[in-house]
Amino acid sequence: MTDSHPRISKAVIPAAGLGTRFLPATKATPKEMLPVVDKPAIQYVVEEAVSAGLHDVLMITGRNKRPLEDHFDRNYELESALQKKGDADRLTKVQESSDLATMHYVRQGDPRGLGHAVLCAAPHVGQEPFAVLLGDDLIDPRDPLLARMVDVQEERGGSVIALMEVEPEQIHLYGCAAVESTTDGDVVKVTGLVEKPDPEDAPSNYAIIGRYVLDPAIFGILRRTEPGRGGEIQLTDALQQLAADEKVGGPVHGVVFKGRRYDTGDRSDYLRAIVRLACEREDLGPDFRSWLRSYVTEEMQAP
Ligand code: UTP
Repeated sequence: MTDSHPRISKAVIPAAGLGTRFLPATKATPKEMLPVVDKPAIQYVVEEAVSAGLHDVLMITGRNKRPLEDHFDRNYELESALQKKGDADRLTKVQESSDLATMHYVRQGDPRGLGHAVLCAAPHVGQEPFAVLLGDDLIDPRDPLLARMVDVQEERGGSVIALMEVEPEQIHLYGCAAVESTTDGDVVKVTGLVEKPDPEDAPSNYAIIGRYVLDPAIFGILRRTEPGRGGEIQLTDALQQLAADEKVGGPVHGVVFKGRRYDTGDRSDYLRAIVRLACEREDLGPDFRSWLRSYVTEEMQAP
């Protein structure tokens, strides 16, 4: 590895969105703090960054997001109460989140869109490639994605986005990529991007999901990006400019993800995440699965 191609070490987690799809739960609680089984959704995301080797985590937060900072900080009162009780298991659980990574925070002020949230990371990131993980996008820990994206960026340079094939009628919910194949089966070259296209205008059924490894050239582009769809500064619009001109920040590639992913900001997907992950847990799984089986049997018998 040369100096012109530094190893990626920083992860940026935008978590300043309002979470309106989950109201009223998110009126005073960040949606990223909603529990998935017994851990807040955001902890899975930070754990994913750390397991891909990124130990420096910058979270983009906003008003009402203080619980995020508290969750990754020490809680001495709770720790000493658990210590006094000799409850080592729970003490470990409490300390896990504060020992995970070196955490940094910056406030976005007004939530002017995902592109604007990423731009808030510029002073911290500097001139290195960096990863972006959306705080409400949960990749099943059994299906690693980010580590593969970091490898692809190190091999091919430029930026790497995560793509997932969706049903054509679902593509209007996502950013969508026009792609060409490469010599790697799970890697495509991205030739264009469009945010939430109508199905008839979509260049493919490859949807952009919430993991990115970006060249720092994105910051210059974001500074010049006008508000787009929904009046927000869209990351996809800036990525489109990167993809359109390789001279600016190198090529844009996509890693095609075929694993399990949940949008924990969406109520149905959130419920699916809880059921799937609870079933796999050694402590809760056996009981929960047998309850689920009888529940499903009952449901199937219902008129
Ligand atoms: P969403 O599109 O899910 O928006 O943002 P949202 O406001 O969080 O949620 P809803 O749609 O109102 O329910 C995608 C990601 O971008 C972050 C969000 O926190 C989320 O991780 N984001 C979005 C910001 O950090 N700042 C913004 O201005 C907008």
